[in-house]
Amino acid sequence: MAPHAETNGGYSPLINGHHPGDSSREDQFIVNAPNVVYTDSTIKSSYIYHTTKVTRGSAGTLEAVPVETEFDFKVERKIPKVGLMLVGWGGNNGSTVTAGILANRKGLSWATREGVQSANYYGSVIMGSTVKLGSDAVTGDDVNVPFHKLLPMIHPNDFVLGGWDISGLNLADAMDRAKVLEPTLKILVRKEMEQMKPLPSIYYPDFIASNQGDRADNVLEGTTACREHLEKIRNDIRDFKQRNELDKVIVLWTANTERYADIITGVNDTAENILASIQNGHPEISPSSVFAVACILENVPFINGSPQNTFVPGVISLAEQHKSYIGGDDFKSGQTKMKSALVDFLISAGIKLTSIASYNHLGNNDGKNLAEHKQFRSKEISKSNVVDDMVAANHILYDEGEHPDHTVVIKYMPAVGDHKRALDEYYGELFLGGRQIISIFNVCEDSLLAAPLIIDLALVTEVMTRITWKNKSDEEFKNFHPVLSILSFMLKAPLTPPGTPVVNALAKQRNALCNIFRACVGLQPESDMTLEHKLF
Ligand SMILES: NC(=O)c1ccc[n+]([C@@H]2O[C@H](COP(=O)([O-])OP(=O)(O)OC[C@H]3O[C@@H](n4cnc5c(N)ncnc54)[C@H](O)[C@@H]3O)[C@@H](O)[C@H]2O)c1
Repeated sequence: MAPHAETNGGYSPLINGHHPGDSSREDQFIVNAPNVVYTDSTIKSSYIYHTTKVTRGSAGTLEAVPVETEFDFKVERKIPKVGLMLVGWGGNNGSTVTAGILANRKGLSWATREGVQSANYYGSVIMGSTVKLGSDAVTGDDVNVPFHKLLPMIHPNDFVLGGWDISGLNLADAMDRAKVLEPTLKILVRKEMEQMKPLPSIYYPDFIASNQGDRADNVLEGTTACREHLEKIRNDIRDFKQRNELDKVIVLWTANTERYADIITGVNDTAENILASIQNGHPEISPSSVFAVACILENVPFINGSPQNTFVPGVISLAEQHKSYIGGDDFKSGQTKMKSALVDFLISAGIKLTSIASYNHLGNNDGKNLAEHKQFRSKEISKSNVVDDMVAANHILYDEGEHPDHTVVIKYMPAVGDHKRALDEYYGELFLGGRQIISIFNVCEDSLLAAPLIIDLALVTEVMTRITWKNKSDEEFKNFHPVLSILSFMLKAPLTPPGTPVVNALAKQRNALCNIFRACVGLQPESDMTLEHKLF
């Protein structure tokens, strides 16, 4: 039986599946069970999925019936060589994630006024957090392993980076413009980043704020969608893949927030119509939708880290037709991440939350772009629905259709730069009419929160391209649904397959991610019942 997460991709600087400085070999594990089979190239598991079907009797009584479904999962173990192409590479997030990966790859340390700082992947759920594997056979203590050891995964140090930007600055100068990183770190990565220059991109001024015009010096000709733009992006992806001898490419949008596109019958409502509308130069086709379509046609996963409706119905059905992975929308970095944890906690503790007031001010280019109403509106929409599922789940506290008041304000304040301030007031109702006010003041560099999310989105997306499943009785393994709702933990307004529910509660999102990975190696979800410590 081969070790669980041994990798033999051939190209990467792995030592027995480890990077220098990576977690110890003890973190490697195998699953010793009849339902799990390791071969040199795959891990196969047979998995019984337990759910509960509920029916309503005529008298309103609920009947709960346990249901078992048998699935087979297969994970390809060979770690591929992966290119990560960022749209908006020269922005704050793009330059920060690039410098961060270089710093980790080189094992850099640099002086700060707090002391010497070393590169790390803090803030990444995959690289920086652990999951309980089980209990120690002798002591009964929890045994935890790094999240990234659950399945054979690429290490972020090995991503080959590239991308596009409407601003032509090289990545070193873009990093200076972003004003996020310590000068001492910048000196160490400067030379390499100077060599990195974003590819020219498509710029349709109507979609982002007019105040972005002065940085748009690296653009393809034409201000509406067209076949040439689509073909150029497809070519860029193919060329990047070939030049860097990559097995696969993932594209992620971390460019400016666009305005919402109108959904128009005959224009962007079906796969055929959106392809025709790109060809015809329809003004309601956004740059991000053109990127998404290009990726789908290249069968390259495309993830949207911004709030706009890139995934209009025509794009989603095109992804379904081509079985090409898409995921979005909007990185869930600060305020919303706190909200999706705190609101879940309050409501599941039986406290009736009656209002949430969220204010932000920030001074980076994202804030500047959001200063215009249409772009702010995209953000407001994506930030607004994040508590709906938690409220709807509790019919003791909330009548049907009842919601807490919820407002979101964002202001551009150049002086604070990337150090975004998020101020939240949660107002709730307690026992016998008591009231509770929770105020949060959250300050941190926005891009240092977002960069690890870019890494997580790319890592999880990549592994999903190597997982297939089938019903027990089926012959053929197949892919997951093209809409990767498994990415929800990292996203504010998670895109889910059409007709399926959206889950915003943070703990549920993490459990879904963790337990799907566990299922792939034949392990049941960790139930936290710990009966072994209670029944003896
Ligand atoms: N930082 C966070 O915590 C966070 C959280 C959630 C969402 N986001 C979203 O991530 C996105 C990026 O954030 P940022 O702080 O890096 O912003 P930024 O403004 O610093 O970077 C965006 C970059 O995109 C480029 N760009 C604009 N249109 C483009 C196009 N059509 N093609 C290629 N490049 C284009 C810009 O020139 C700029 O360099 C924003 O939409 C923001 O709302 C950020």
